Amino acid sequence: MLKINPIKGRSLLTWLDFSPEEIRYLLDLSKEVKAEAKQGVVKQRFQGKSIALIFEKNSTRTRSAFETAFGEEGGHPVFLSLNDIHIGNGKESIEDTARILGRMYSAIQFRGFKQSTVETLAAYSGVPVFNGLTDFCHPTQALADVMTLEEEFGSCKGKNLVFCGDGRNNVTRSLLAICSKLGVNLTIISPKGLQLEEDFVKRCRPCGEESGMKLVITSDVNAVEGADAVYTDVWTSMGEEAQKSARKELLSPYQVNAALMRKTQKKETIFLHCLPAIKGEEVTAEVIDGEQSRVWDEGENRKHTIKAIMLAAMGAV
Ligand code: CP
Ligand code: NVA
Repeated sequence: MLKINPIKGRSLLTWLDFSPEEIRYLLDLSKEVKAEAKQGVVKQRFQGKSIALIFEKNSTRTRSAFETAFGEEGGHPVFLSLNDIHIGNGKESIEDTARILGRMYSAIQFRGFKQSTVETLAAYSGVPVFNGLTDFCHPTQALADVMTLEEEFGSCKGKNLVFCGDGRNNVTRSLLAICSKLGVNLTIISPKGLQLEEDFVKRCRPCGEESGMKLVITSDVNAVEGADAVYTDVWTSMGEEAQKSARKELLSPYQVNAALMRKTQKKETIFLHCLPAIKGEEVTAEVIDGEQSRVWDEGENRKHTIKAIMLAAMGAV
């Protein structure tokens, strides 16, 4: 692990801006933080600090992870929904909101629609800003995902992660970005109309070549063969509700069920899902509640990884 914290003062908006060494630092710190939590070690590393948690969209895990991880370390988290603050009624610009929050808080978390909002908060607040999900990407999720892979397999480099479902959403973009930095092989299986935009894939290719990752984007479900982990996400992301019935039709052949898990030809393949899951749509209850599922560990790891990101960015380690 790097001795000097390379993340101090940084924002996490997307993994595209982070080096493999910086991501490795955060992964190792996440494991340390998890071990401390299991041993019941209580520290007060956020004492005297506060964080604004802005949520335009709903959240169970991300909000709970930020709020409990920050509060348990002696910090003061403040939850701000759009019903509470002036950006919700369109009366105050994001820039002005950022300037004021930066004078009052030590950091900001934003979950919402536009990537440009989280970027503007980072540009104008002067404090670390964490992307808790936008339409574009979901970086804190991807760190918990690779941590879960490492807990299972020791290392994630060279492992075969296969995502099957809506292949062009926030979760798949963050998976591609982090896998290309860490050398995790990634196969994304989705219908033609739901594949990642070439522009984003191009941005990840140089890192993927450097790390030695293999990237496959296909509509053939047989490409699941050899998967160490099969991952899926909801068919209709938050904000896309109007697409619900069209998505169901397009994505039904891509459901993760027992037959698809058997196609991996491996008994030790694990199942991952960022959650929330709609059982009977993108995944069957048999798989998500079955022996191969690691989704509850993955969900718990959201808290440890988010704590590590906050500790490092806020210079508390
Ligand atoms: N995975 C995830 O981000 O969950 P929440 O929407 O509950 O925060
Ligand atoms: N793609 C999903 C992720 C939820 C955590 C969504 O944006 O709704």
